[in-house]
Parts: sequence; C-alpha cells; structure tokens
Amino acid sequence: MAVKDKKDKKTYYITTPIYYPSGNMHIGHSYTTVAADAEARYRRLKGYDVMFLTGTDEHGQKIQRKAAEKGVTPKEYVDEIVANTKELWKLMNVSNDQFIRTTDDFHVKAVQKIFKTLYDKGDIYKSEYEGWYCTPCESFWTETQLVDGKCPDCGRAVERTREESYFFRLSKYQQPLIDFIESHPDFIQPVTRKNEMLNNFLRPGLEDLCVSRTSFDWGIPVTFDEKHVVYVWVDALSNYITALGYGSDDDSRFKKYWPAQVHLVGKEIVRFHTIIWPALLMALDLPLPEQVYGHGWLLIDGGKMSKSKGNVIDPRILCAKYGSDAIRYFLLREVPFGSDGVFTNEALIGRINADLANDLGNLVSRTVSMQLKYFNGVQSADKAFTDADTDIARLFSEIYDNVQTQMDALQFPTALVEIWRGVSRLNKFIDETAPWVLAKSAATDPEAKARLAGVMYTLLEGIRIISVLIEPFMPETPAKIRTQLGIIDRPELTGWETASQWGTYPDGTEVKKGDALFPRIDAEKELEELEKMNAAAKAAAASAAAGAGNAGNAEKAGACGDTANSAGEEDDANLITIDDFAKVQMNVAEVISAEKVEGSDKLLLLKLSLGDQQRQVVSGIAKQYSPEEMKGKKVILVSNLKPAVLKGIRSEGMILAASKGKKLVLVTVDGDIPAGAKIS
Ligand code: MSP
Repeated sequence: MAVKDKKDKKTYYITTPIYYPSGNMHIGHSYTTVAADAEARYRRLKGYDVMFLTGTDEHGQKIQRKAAEKGVTPKEYVDEIVANTKELWKLMNVSNDQFIRTTDDFHVKAVQKIFKTLYDKGDIYKSEYEGWYCTPCESFWTETQLVDGKCPDCGRAVERTREESYFFRLSKYQQPLIDFIESHPDFIQPVTRKNEMLNNFLRPGLEDLCVSRTSFDWGIPVTFDEKHVVYVWVDALSNYITALGYGSDDDSRFKKYWPAQVHLVGKEIVRFHTIIWPALLMALDLPLPEQVYGHGWLLIDGGKMSKSKGNVIDPRILCAKYGSDAIRYFLLREVPFGSDGVFTNEALIGRINADLANDLGNLVSRTVSMQLKYFNGVQSADKAFTDADTDIARLFSEIYDNVQTQMDALQFPTALVEIWRGVSRLNKFIDETAPWVLAKSAATDPEAKARLAGVMYTLLEGIRIISVLIEPFMPETPAKIRTQLGIIDRPELTGWETASQWGTYPDGTEVKKGDALFPRIDAEKELEELEKMNAAAKAAAASAAAGAGNAGNAEKAGACGDTANSAGEEDDANLITIDDFAKVQMNVAEVISAEKVEGSDKLLLLKLSLGDQQRQVVSGIAKQYSPEEMKGKKVILVSNLKPAVLKGIRSEGMILAASKGKKLVLVTVDGDIPAGAKIS
C-alpha cells in the first residue's frame, strides 16, 4: 500500500507505549509520557502538525485474572484504571491528541483485519507452539535464548508450554530487518540498543512467533477461528496505526501521519518495537517508523519500581505537593535521557529548591521587584547597553540553537541544562551590575539611570526568552512569568521563534508583582513526610503480598504469552521477611450465613464468626461455591485487611483460596479448632 510522501509536510507523529492497566500509574510510567509530551509541545511550538498518541493496552490473561480476583468483568476492571490514567495525564498536563484503548471497537476490528490479511498472505499459519514462556514479560523464548534456564530479559522462571497456535513468519524478516537497521542508523536509538538488538537477537536468528492463544479469552478473537485470541503484542503494537484509522473506512489520518517520526519506549520493550513491529509492518507492506527511542528506567532503592515492593512513587501525590511543572522538570532534568537513573526524594527536593525556587524563581522575583522599585514597573526607552548586554544576547542566541539541537535529538536534560545556562548567566549579571548601586546614582546621574534601564531590559528580555524555551517542559510556568513581565496578552512576543529575536520586549511594558513561582521547600520536614509515606506504602504492600499472594499467584500462565507489565512490576515480589509476614493477621472464621450478591454472578456475601466477633466479607467464589455449601465451613480470614467496598457492600477482610485456571478451592483447617483461632 502506498503512503503519500510527506517530505514536504510538517507533520510529526510521536507515540508513547500504551500502558498496561495494572493499577495506579507510578512515576516511572509518567517518565515516558512526560518526555513524549515535551517533544510534542516543542514540535507544536515550532509549527509542526503534531499527532501525539498514548493509550492503554487492555487485553491479556493477567488482566482477566486480576478482574476475576476482584469479582468484576475485565472490562469493568480496566475501565476504572483507564479513567484514573486519563486523570493523571490531565493532572500532569499531558497534551496527547488521542488516547487509544485496545478495547476500542475500531481497534479490535482493524486488528482482526490485519491478522486476516497476514493469514491470507501466508505470513500467518497454524501450527502448535511448544517452547518456553515468561508470563511477566509476555515473551516466548527458545531453549538457546534462555539464560541459566531463566527468562533472559527479567531473570524470572519460564514455563514449558504446548498449545495449538497461529504463527507469524518472523524468521522470513530476519535479513530484511538487519538490512533495514544497518541502512537506517537512526532507526534504533540510543545506538547501544541498536547493537544489542543486532547482536543479541537478529544475528543469532529469528524464529517464527506464536501470535494467538487459546487458553483464555480476554483478547481480540481471530475472526476465522474464534477459539483463538490475538497475541497481545500484535494487538498492542498495531495501535500505532489503528489509532490513525488504518484498517477502517477512513484512513486519511493514517495517510497523513504515518510513518511515525518516533516511538518513545522504555528500554525493556525496544525488542518488541524494533523486531516484531517492523516485521509486521513489512509483512503489511507499510513503511517503518523513522525511529524507536529506548529510554532508561527510573530506579528506586537500587531496583525497578514495583507495586509489590511498595516502592512506587505516586505522581499524583508529588504533583499535589509541588505542582506538576516541578515534577515534569525533575523527570526530564535529573537523568541523562537513554540511561537509567535513581529517583530519590532528596534529589527531587534538591532540584526544586536549587534550580526552580532559587535560580529561576528568584531571578524573576528579584527582577520584577527591581523594575518596580527603580522604574515604577515600566520599561524605560532611555536605556544604555554595554558589551556585557551584547554578550548575553549572543549567549541567548547560542542557547536557542542548542536547545533546538537537543530537542531534535530527544535530549531533554541537556536542553534544560542549556536553558539554565541562561538563568545562571542572568543571576550572575545581577551580581555583576549591582543595580542597587546604579540606582543610588540614578537619581542625579542620567547616564547611570540609562544604564540601570539597560540592565533591567537585558534581565527582562532574557526572562522573556526563558519563558518561551521552558514551555515544552513546564506548561504552567510560562504564563505565570509572562503575567509578571506584563506580556501575558501579547502572543506575538512569546512564540517559539521570538526566542531567537533578542530585543523583542517592548519599552513601556509594565511588570506586575506575582507569587513566588516555586516556593522554597522546607527540605527536612518534607523529607520526613515523604519517608513516612513511603514506609506506609511498603507496609501495605508487604501485607497485601502476604494476604493475596497465594491465591493471586497460584497459577502461572500457559503457552504463548499474555499481557504483562514488562517494566518489572512483580519482580522478586514474593520475598518478604518474617516481620513482613507478622504484619498479616489471619484467623479461622466460621461461615454463619452466605448469600449471592445482587447483580454479580461471582460474588458471595459471607457473614463470619471469629468467636468473640462477627465480620462480613464479599468474596469472588460464587462460581465455585453455592451459599448453601458455604454455611458452617471453616475458612481462613485475613482479618487486618483494610475494609473495601465491593458492589456497594463493605467487605471486612478477605478469605483465602487457591486457584488454577477456572478452578478455585477454599483454604481451610485440617482438624477441629474453634473459630477465632490465630493462624501463625
Ligand atoms: N503495554 C506495554 C507496552 C505496549 S506498546 C505497544 C507496556 N506497558 S507498561 O505499562 O508496562 O509500560 C509502559 C511504559 O512505562 C514503558 O515504556 C516502560 O518502560 C515505562 N516504565 C514503567 N516503569 C518505568 C520506570 N520505573 N522508569 C521508566 N520508565 C518505566 O510495556
């Protein structure tokens, strides 16, 4: 299929991965999205017609299982998380043009079409899968690819699996992929990731890829063989083109925006984006994206963030405390883009205080205060410049060029370093020119007065330019600065290209005092508070792991992969200390009565006796146990679990069960013991 050449069109299509709705998003997830947003904003400011896509990757066995544990349908389960995800992006000022869900009808239909097209073409064929499978990474591995018998990506255990499946002829695209990557040096960035793909995966050889599953049904059905659902990575990767209408009646946006300029992804999913995705595109006769950029991870406590370790940092809390511009700045400034970096509360508060409150915030407030004090806030036309002002003008012109070079290469931290070169220079300029000294002579000396006006002009003009250059990173702060500069209603002074036009701030403009842009944080107090929050999150995670772990992890997935949070949500989740375990209180409980929960075929409402007290618990066991058979049973209750509301009913704890596939049995006691007995 021919796609119109877009060389002369200024379109810019940028994507984030579509997120796996596994719970609340943590700060690591915000990293990719905030970076993509900064780039999208920059390109818009530069006049590109930008298409910025994000969304959610909602199918797969893991979701199905989590939903079942909660006693809701997979769709109900994801709907709630997706709503939270959208809220978070709003809170963080993410300016995506579209939000795709893989449960969107248009996407489902287009994926079915893609699958059928590849089948008709002979690139997908039916066979049987036998091999190794890593559930958390949702990856298939051959014997030789395993490292010490474990998943080479995450080091976790893999399982031998066998299942009737459809296969994609990935092996056919091995050489074309190598050729493409070698002849397009920018396709995989940073370059280390390109070498890794070539040396570790492509050159050793590709095997055909299993692209359907039969052991669960929460996925896109294969239209011509309905017991199969499409492999989630084929489903998920296709979002980049289905979002544009590919495979629908109206593919005008696809023609306009495809191929993408960049897929921004975390390093662990570069392999899917630079091998499977381009091979699928080649099979569909479609052009490949210009670039896949694999950034590093934000690490915490020396490892990946993981909900089950309780070390995830909630971006909502940080945004509420310090404002989303500060958090965005930190994310994009702290770690060289492409490398891993460590998140610490100390570093966050340090950056906010040093770079934002001290450097930028003080520069603006000092400048505005001086302009008010010396010139009643109004820029005087009677101003004199020296070589120092010319040097600063030259520096800002250099900064403008450098910021563009860095942004063109997705080097956000270095772009910010450039901008802060300007901030520091202006602060130093205040110290060097000592306007308060000039002001003393200004009353009687017109030359000193003119020089003072020149100094103020250089400061205000520099700040105006900074307000333009920071806009991709910090969408809220520029307006605050411009209000203080008196140019909030003057868009002609704040467009991107005006940052290269030194001397644009008009004489006669009046500044206005405003609030501090970034109030200084009491570091000691804040760190203590953040530490307390982290400790509470860790304790909650430990008790959840102890209480829910058995039933939740009882079954490992079967063949051929399913959606997983490949950024390592669950790694070494099951290791807890005896102290962690001691936090979970469990007791024997006797079921006094049981009834079905109205409007749910999975939930039972159980009234339990603990001897000296009673509890009610809503439990997802209605498919396996009738209310009648529950009466009189002795079950194990996690009795210090925070109460939850399920289908409008308060549930005071959780009873333990073991499950495998659709089979589920209650955990009970081996012998007669009174209700209330402690489990230890
Ligand atoms: N659903 C897949 C992507 C399919 S794209 C066709 C997926 N989802 S995810 O929710 O697990 O991850 C989404 C993005 O968040 C990835 O780019 C991942 O690298 C990023 N991050 C998740 N945790 C992270 C950190 N701690 N640090 C930086 N980014 C990480 O993968």
